[in-house]
Amino acid sequence: MSKKLLLKDAHIEGIRYFETYRKQGGYTAAEKALKMTPDEILEEVKASGLRGRGGAGFPTGMKWSFLAKPEGVPRHLVVNADESEPGTFKDRYLMEFLPHLLIEGMLISSYCLGSNVSYIYIRGEYSWIPDILEEAIEEAKVAGFLGKNILGTGFDLEIYVQRGAGAYICGEETALLESLEGKRGNPRLKPPFPAVKGLWERPTVVNNVESIAAIVPIIDITGAEYAKIGVGRSTGTKLISACGNINKPGVYEIDMTITVEEFIYSDEYCGGIKDGKKLKACIPGGSSVPIVPANYY
Ligand SMILES: Cc1cc2nc3c(=O)[nH]c(=O)nc-3n(C[C@H](O)[C@H](O)[C@H](O)COP(=O)(O)O)c2cc1C
Repeated sequence: MSKKLLLKDAHIEGIRYFETYRKQGGYTAAEKALKMTPDEILEEVKASGLRGRGGAGFPTGMKWSFLAKPEGVPRHLVVNADESEPGTFKDRYLMEFLPHLLIEGMLISSYCLGSNVSYIYIRGEYSWIPDILEEAIEEAKVAGFLGKNILGTGFDLEIYVQRGAGAYICGEETALLESLEGKRGNPRLKPPFPAVKGLWERPTVVNNVESIAAIVPIIDITGAEYAKIGVGRSTGTKLISACGNINKPGVYEIDMTITVEEFIYSDEYCGGIKDGKKLKACIPGGSSVPIVPANYY
């Protein structure tokens, strides 16, 4: 079923820019969140049932609740924008067309987690996206949604964009942290997990771009409402980057009630297979997942 929470304004011309994003109601979720306590936000995220959109599907609220909070030690939010799985491009789409959605999500998440310096670690090959993100960060700063004493709340936040050098392994969160620290991107042994010892040995949460963007509608409509969308433990909406031998490749937002067959053949989404051919198989989640033959749909 078509349900748009993340991409509802993606078609609007100029939505990449602060003024247009704001006119469409952008940053109202952040204004709402900054009036809540960090614990209240955490409860909303837990209630939403949101599971990480970076691959493993780990519950985001639970991950956030593991973050160590020792007195006087800075903590960090790191957004994983490494997206190197062949055939995937949904995070790129979000950053390219809706950079303020990610920044607003980062503002709410950073406030909840107590991170005053947060990072976006982006795949090196996405060479044109850092400029878009940095322009949006600057706009948000001028408008008072980043920097010092955001909206007079006393909360400070800086966001930095760090480019990777094109290594697939740097999508793995601990390799990413090594790379972000300026070292070769080798994965670290776990434990300790990043929530205890992450970036520069400080407590760190690493989340995917889409997971952080989803925090905006969760605060907007409440966690309970978000949890009503989807099926079973797969709550909310999900972005799917569809490519291959289909009529309408692109990024689509679905809820999980739709079958693969419907998704591929429906005119609302992929519009079927080229030259009326029949589906043989598809790769449902990048090349790390098994190929699923058509008789399983
Ligand atoms: C080899 C490897 C590559 C990965 N690549 C990515 C990636 O490109 N983007 C991503 O968000 N997560 C990637 N992950 C998962 C991350 O380690 C981490 O679980 C994820 O960023 C957490 O975000 P989430 O909880 O929001 O899903 C990868 C994991 C492995 C093992």
